[in-house]
Parts: sequence; C-alpha cells; structure tokens
Amino acid sequence: MNSVTENISLKKIIDGKLISSKVKAEIKEEVSELVQSGKRPPGLAFILVGEDPASKVYVKNKGKACSDIGFYSVTEKLPDSISEEELINLIQTFNNDEKIDGILVQLPLPKHINEQRVIESINYKKDVDGFHPENTGRLVSGIKSFIPCTPYGITELLKRYNIETSGKNVTVIGRSNIVGKPIANLLIQKEYNATVSICHSKTKDLKSYTLNADIIIAAIGSPDFLKGDMIKEDVVIIDVGINRVESSSSPNGYKITGDVDFESCLEKCKMITPVPGGVGPMTIAMLMKNTLDSYKKIIYS
Ligand code: GUN
Repeated sequence: MNSVTENISLKKIIDGKLISSKVKAEIKEEVSELVQSGKRPPGLAFILVGEDPASKVYVKNKGKACSDIGFYSVTEKLPDSISEEELINLIQTFNNDEKIDGILVQLPLPKHINEQRVIESINYKKDVDGFHPENTGRLVSGIKSFIPCTPYGITELLKRYNIETSGKNVTVIGRSNIVGKPIANLLIQKEYNATVSICHSKTKDLKSYTLNADIIIAAIGSPDFLKGDMIKEDVVIIDVGINRVESSSSPNGYKITGDVDFESCLEKCKMITPVPGGVGPMTIAMLMKNTLDSYKKIIYS
C-alpha cells in the first residue's frame, strides 16, 4: 500500500476507541457534577464465575472503566464449583444493595448452571446487560429498555459516523441473544428503519445476503469469515468478532482477530470497524451509559 491508498484506507476506519473515549468522557463529566452536588456515585457489581481467561480480561477492563469515570464497583470472583443457588443468592444481595445500580454476570457460565435462570434472577431494573426477558421483550416492542451493550455500541457508532440506516439493507450474520437478535430488532425500529436479514449456520446461499447488503454486521465468532468476494462496493462493515487465534509471532502465543477478513474487505468497503479498536471498546462505554441511566432512574424516583 502506498501513502495515498494508505490515507484513503485510514479514512474508512470506524474508530471505536476514539468514540468510546468520548462517550466515557461525557459520562465522567456528568458523574463528577452529580458527586459534587452531594450524591453518591453510580455503582456496578460484577460477578465472574470460574477461570475463563477471556472473561477475566473483560471483567478487569470493565472494572477499570468504572474507576476511570468515577463509578463505584465491586467484583465478586466465584469458583467454578459454585452452585446455581449460591450464585442466585449473591445476585439477590446486589438486587437489594442501595449502592448498586447495575449487576453484570459475565457469560458464559459453567455448564451445571442454568444461565437463563440466573439472568432472570437479576432485578430487571438493574439489568444493565439488557438480557432479562423484561428488557428483551420491551426492546422487541419498541418500548424504552436497557439495550444490550454491544448492539447499543453499534448503533452509537452508526449515529456518530452519520451512517444512514433508513431504507438500507442490513445483513446480520449470527443470531445470538447477546448481539444478532437484539441488533436486528433495534435496526427494524422506526428510529432506524432498516430492512434486516438475519443469517446463521443453516442459511442457504449466505453470500447472496451479504452481496445485497448496504451494512453487514458480522457476529458469528468465526475468524476472518467474511471475505472480499462476499461484499459489494461501498458496504459498511461492522465486525463484532473477538476471536483468539494462535500466533507464533505474538509474545503470548495468540492474537485477537475479528469475523471479517480485514485485508480482502478494506479496499471494497466504504467503512469498516477494526478488531481490536472497533466494537469492543464501545461495549464497555455503553455498559457505563446503561449504568448511569439506571442510577438516574433510581435516585430520581
Ligand atoms: N459475555 C460476552 N459478552 C458479554 C456481555 O456483553 N455481557 C455479559 N454479561 N457477558 C458477556
């Protein structure tokens, strides 16, 4: 790549790190004013079960974001052997804790624990992940709710980069409860007016959907899945993948890569989120936003 094409390519990058810093700075400012006026800070409780290395990193980064912006936070680290009942009891104590506005149980949970039962034991008013059926139901119905942080981060990036969604064809690859389903449900709302296709592992001729898309949201957890020959010119690509792949050139033996083959898509696309530095930082920023919103609802009620 020469310096001219490099410059053009740089302009295509959707900088999630930059936008997340702006969102967090706005929240920090608001928290500082609230605390100066004598109010308690917003509080967020993290529950981490087991030793999954990626989950440990995510929770550490979320805790750091809390201290950076002036939130109170507490992290409970529990062993893999914890019972479902003990975990739910801990959630109940946070449900009743007046210093806590948001509760986040890092997923996935060990196999012997029923994830859905755990999610439903969180008071939906403190469900800053937006995973409780009360919040997912509201989201589908277009009623104000906690929006899951990754889809919320994606819509924030689209807005702040003035990326038009109305009347556009959006193809979502992946149907998870955390990303695929909620982002599809959000983008069909009147606020966004997109026409959305949701593709998954059983979709026939997936390429026909990606070739037809003005915006592609890749959230399948498959490294470098979306290739340059699967997209049309001027598509906007949002890469939600965070995949650990072996890399002998990295000091820790692995590198993080997205669901999009960045190299083959960069030239053809209009804009693209990088991995890392795209959607990932936005997830944390929007968790802070949801927690601040929960706090305001609690203290002003
Ligand atoms: N695991 C992967 N993403 C998430 C998330 O957004 N929230 C929680 N609680 N667990 C996750």
